[in-house]
Amino acid sequence: MPGVRIMMRVAVLLFLVTPVWAGTPVPEIPKGKGQQCVEDTAMMRTNHMEFILHQRDDTMHRGIRTKKHSLKECIECHAVKGDDGMPVSVESPKHFCSVCHRYAAVSIDCFQCHNSKPEIKLTGDRNGQ
Ligand code: HEC
Ligand code: HEC
Ligand code: HEC
Repeated sequence: MPGVRIMMRVAVLLFLVTPVWAGTPVPEIPKGKGQQCVEDTAMMRTNHMEFILHQRDDTMHRGIRTKKHSLKECIECHAVKGDDGMPVSVESPKHFCSVCHRYAAVSIDCFQCHNSKPEIKLTGDRNGQ
C-alpha cells in the first residue's frame, strides 16, 4: 500500500507545519501583558520571526519597520517572573521565548546582544530584605 507511506509523510509534515501547540501536548505559553499582541496572536505565532529579524525588515512585504516590532517591547510585555519574583532570562525554560523554542528545538542568538529581560525598574521595597 504505497498510499500509506504518503499519508504518513503528509501527517508528519502537517504535524511539523501546523503549530505544534495547536495539538494536544502543548507547551504552556505564558500570557502576554495587556489585551493583545502587536499583531493578531495566530499571526504572531507563525510570523513573529519575520517581524523582528534584522535587515530583512525593510524589504519585508508590508514594509513594517516601526517601533511596534521592537524586540524590547516584546520583552516588556512578555516578561515572565521566576520564583524570586524577578523576570527570568532566556536561560530559563520559563522565559516566553524559550518555552516554544525549546519545545520546537529552535535556537536563536538574539540574546547574545539583546537583553532577554525587561529593563529594571527600581521599586520601593529594597530595604525590606
Ligand atoms: C551581534 C549582536 C546582535 C545580535 C546577535 C542580534 N542583534 Fe538585534 N540589534 C543589535 C544592535 C547593535 C541593534 C541596534 C541597537 C538597538 O536598537 O538596540 C539591534 C537592533 C535590533 C532591533 C531593532 C531595535 C529594537 O529593539 O527593536 C530588532 C528588532 C532586533 N535587533 C532584533 C534581533 C533579533 C530578532 C535577533 C536574533 C535573530 C537579533 N536582533 C540579534 C545587535 C544584535
Ligand atoms: C502590548 C503588549 C505586547 C507586546 C508589545 C507584544 N506582545 Fe506578543 N502578545 C501579547 C499578548 C497579550 C498575547 C496573547 C494574546 C492572546 O492570547 O490572544 C501575545 C501573544 C504573542 C504570541 C503568541 C503566543 C501564543 O499563545 O501562542 C507570540 C509568539 C508573541 N506574542 C510574540 C511577540 C513578539 C515577538 C513581540 C515583539 C515584536 C510581541 N509579542 C510584542 C502582548 C504583547
Ligand atoms: C508560540 C511559540 C513561540 C514563541 C512564544 C516564540 N517563538 Fe520564536 N519561533 C517559534 C517557532 C516554532 C520557530 C521556528 C519557525 C520556523 O522554523 O519556521 C521560531 C523561530 C524564531 C526565530 C527565527 C529563528 C531562525 O533561525 O530562523 C526568531 C528570531 C524567533 N523565533 C524569535 C522569538 C523571540 C525573540 C521570542 C520571544 C519574544 C519568540 N521567538 C517566541 C515559536 C515561538
